[in-house]
Amino acid sequence: MYYSDDVIEEVRSRNDIVDVISSYVKLKRQGSSYFGLCPFHSEKSPSFSVSPGKQMYYCFGCGAGGNVLTFVMEYENFTFPEAMKFLAERAGMTLPEEEYSEEARRQRDLKERVREINKMAANYFYYMLRSPQGERALAYLKNRGLSDETMKRFGLGYAGQYSDALYRYLRGKGISDQLLKESGLMQVNERQGMYDKFWNRVMFPIMDVNNRVIGFGGRVMGDAKPKYLNSPETVIFDKSRNLYGLNYARTAKKRYMLVCEGYMDVISMHQAGFTNAVASLGTALTTQHATLLKRYTDEVILTYDSDEAGIRAALRAIPMLREAGISTRVLHMEPYKDPDEFIKALGTEAFQQRIDQAENSFLFELSVLQKSYDMKNPDGKTRFFQAAAARIAEFEQEIERENYIEAVAGRFQISFEGLRKMVMSVLMQGVPQRKQAVQSVQQEKKRSEKADGIRRSQQLILTWLVEYPNLYGTVSRYIHPEDFSDELYREVALLLYEQREKNEVNPAQIINHFSDAEQQRTVAQLFNAQVKIEKPRELEKAVQETIYKVVEQAIGQKSRELDPTDMKGLQELVDAKRRLQEIRRLHISL
Ligand code: CTP
Ligand code: MN
Repeated sequence: MYYSDDVIEEVRSRNDIVDVISSYVKLKRQGSSYFGLCPFHSEKSPSFSVSPGKQMYYCFGCGAGGNVLTFVMEYENFTFPEAMKFLAERAGMTLPEEEYSEEARRQRDLKERVREINKMAANYFYYMLRSPQGERALAYLKNRGLSDETMKRFGLGYAGQYSDALYRYLRGKGISDQLLKESGLMQVNERQGMYDKFWNRVMFPIMDVNNRVIGFGGRVMGDAKPKYLNSPETVIFDKSRNLYGLNYARTAKKRYMLVCEGYMDVISMHQAGFTNAVASLGTALTTQHATLLKRYTDEVILTYDSDEAGIRAALRAIPMLREAGISTRVLHMEPYKDPDEFIKALGTEAFQQRIDQAENSFLFELSVLQKSYDMKNPDGKTRFFQAAAARIAEFEQEIERENYIEAVAGRFQISFEGLRKMVMSVLMQGVPQRKQAVQSVQQEKKRSEKADGIRRSQQLILTWLVEYPNLYGTVSRYIHPEDFSDELYREVALLLYEQREKNEVNPAQIINHFSDAEQQRTVAQLFNAQVKIEKPRELEKAVQETIYKVVEQAIGQKSRELDPTDMKGLQELVDAKRRLQEIRRLHISL
């Protein structure tokens, strides 16, 4: 289904965002906005805002945001065409029949179609599991201890015995081979042509945080290999950015998240009431996963398998999580292999106990380190404690070091004072190598803080441009859309400048231009930047400084990229620098 931009905009503008969201979330007026408890993450005090002026929502807690179409897609788990139909009906509009449009819409439409196909497949597998053909699969899942309710909640299904059943089903629904190829559900080979990727497997649909099916994992019902098959990456499925179970875990009211290895582990834990469990999808945890987790929690408990591979995975994950600002503990599953087996054998309470006893990640790292020393030999033992002292010395704050000296002394049974002296002596020597590593981490941190600062300034400019009509003349004299540093920011700035030129400012319409939920979120963030300022004079000062910062950074960028023989470019740069000084003398009134 394709709709023209005009139709999309009409549906959007005929549905007031405050009206629509009020029917889902209790909102209270506060200044020019409404606030309520965010429906997309769990919270006790309201950080979810809806702006009638901008016709947008934005959560200052979890960063969810968008316009009225985004909201119903996220909340109701609608595809884009479904959201259009829903809101059109609500406004008493009749939507036009299908319209076909040009190249620029291709990517958005492709994603939408691939999403629909995955949803159709999920429904198909779901139905198959409950049909006579699915009898053996259903028995397999029951035998693994899953209740009907759990199977329903996770949308479990069965891919039938024949390797072309889904193919024929989807073709029967009018889907082209071309699109099926993009869906990740088919395989092509020269002799057989196109056929199903999954058959005779129990199926685990993988959902994104908005409950939309983006891919599948399929498990054989016996010992055949490979045990699991997974959807390949597609236009909607990026393994490094999605976590299995996060759609439910993000609303679990716990202060930590459990991160494990497998589909069955997540499902078992949820069934036992640990609904804050997630898994990475058959890959190691990535930095993107860590950033994603940080949006919902500050603490992770790793519940990886208790084998060699699980330990290695934990050692890799800990620094990544630390870097993202998450503190980590490690749960010990022995003598069982994984959470699924543990819970089946010892039950919920025992598992909760293990959660409570989960080991601090630093102590975990040390206990792994200890295994490479011969602790029966006094020399080996000394070397281990020297290594431990060197690692403790890396903590920047004295209080942190003291706490770890105490914890390590307790855990490995040596004297507090003795260990403390060792740490001190490492610090005296200046820890040359380690220090360098720490320094480069700090430099990296500074760099990324600076980039964040610039991004923030640019967000403020865009937000103010919406909020203060008078500002456009001044801002557009000094800042051009191409001066923004991210591709997405440039696109948004261009659209907003066009609207300002026509005197038709409409930030919610800008969101229509982006189909990706993540992009819509970012756009909503761009228009919801905030500074704490009370007096109007201070705000004017802040505006002036922010313009200065953005222009200064754009000039810096240009001069770094300038070809030294480009005389015209050089002249432009000189002019720009002169104008930069003008900004200092600018009088801004809002
Ligand atoms: N995995 C995979 N491909 C495989 C094996 C495993 O993608 N061939 C991924 C799956 O996401 C799986 C996870 O790695 O859930 C953990 O694998 P494993 O520990 O072998 O499986 P379990 O989750 O324990 O599954 P089960 O209990 O069904 O054996
Ligand atoms: Mn298992």
